[in-house]
Amino acid sequence: KRPAGAPDAALARKVTKVGVVGAGLMASQMALLFARRLEVPVVLTDLDQARLDKGVGYVHAEVDKLLGKGRVSQDQANRLKSLVSGSLTKDAFADADFVIEAVFEDLAVKKQVFAEVEAVVSAGCVLATNTSSLSLTEMGAGLAHPERLVGFHFFNPVAVMPLLEIIRGAATDDATLATAFAVGKALRKSSVLVKDAPAFVVNRLLTCFMGEVVAAVDEGTPLETAEHALDGLGLPMTPFALLQLVGPAVGLHVAETLHEAFPDRFGVSENMAKLVASGKPGVYRPDFTLDPEAVALFAGG
Ligand code: 3HC
Repeated sequence: KRPAGAPDAALARKVTKVGVVGAGLMASQMALLFARRLEVPVVLTDLDQARLDKGVGYVHAEVDKLLGKGRVSQDQANRLKSLVSGSLTKDAFADADFVIEAVFEDLAVKKQVFAEVEAVVSAGCVLATNTSSLSLTEMGAGLAHPERLVGFHFFNPVAVMPLLEIIRGAATDDATLATAFAVGKALRKSSVLVKDAPAFVVNRLLTCFMGEVVAAVDEGTPLETAEHALDGLGLPMTPFALLQLVGPAVGLHVAETLHEAFPDRFGVSENMAKLVASGKPGVYRPDFTLDPEAVALFAGG
């Protein structure tokens, strides 16, 4: 069955090579998924060799885990590793059909990235963004071909979460959208088409929930109480564990975007901003015990 709003699948273009801009955690998780499900070469680019090595290293380590669990054979593992490579220049995207960016959440940075990508790719190449909240239409302004830009928003952990938000910008054409849906299907994700609105749909809903948890702590509820208040509802993760998975800086950026768009409905917690400024990964240490200094950044902690 065709997903709601998806164009005719016959319009989709074939994808034989994927480019990923950025080699951070989200980008590396995506690279592995593209290689595993599309079985095509995937090239990661980043600013320096150390970041590239880290990204490719992550992919290799995850492939080894899959091998250890018996999810892939030794031959498949070798092939997967050989499909994912790193390049310091975007020239490696010249023959890519689908290029996705997962760089810092800054509109100007993303526009610059796409201007550079557009200079090397062929006319039929889809440009996709994994932005969590920025406007597709603004991102496409200034592109020679904004009709090939589409939102392709994954959820953390990319390998596990079935959901994929596909966002149509004001200019996105049907062939681009059909290709995005076809790629989503090949990745075995459940794709939903959403409007180009601040934080789209999923992060808007998630921020309502997370914003209230953080506000409760800001207002004096002990963090441990807010963190475990909903345990009996069977959520897959506690709120602050989820915040740590997503990254406080990403969560804060989404909250700021929503506050700017809907100031009467979304606030920005000063204590969250302090947590981000502290550089801590969240309120937990790697061994998942609470970090008292991080907890103390919240008024009620
Ligand atoms: N990478 C790859 N695989 C992972 C993983 C990761 N980072 N984390 C967990 N997994 C795998 C495990 O290996 C395991 O696989 P297996 O069954 O093959 O062994 C499987 O997922 C289950 O993991 P666990 O048994 O360790 O743990 P749980 O059963 O508790 O599941 C979870 C972990 C899937 C992360 C679950 O807690 C969950 O669904 N949490 C909610 C996550 C969520 O809501 N994400 C959305 C965040 S919002 C977002 O990303 C948008 C952005 O724009 C902000």
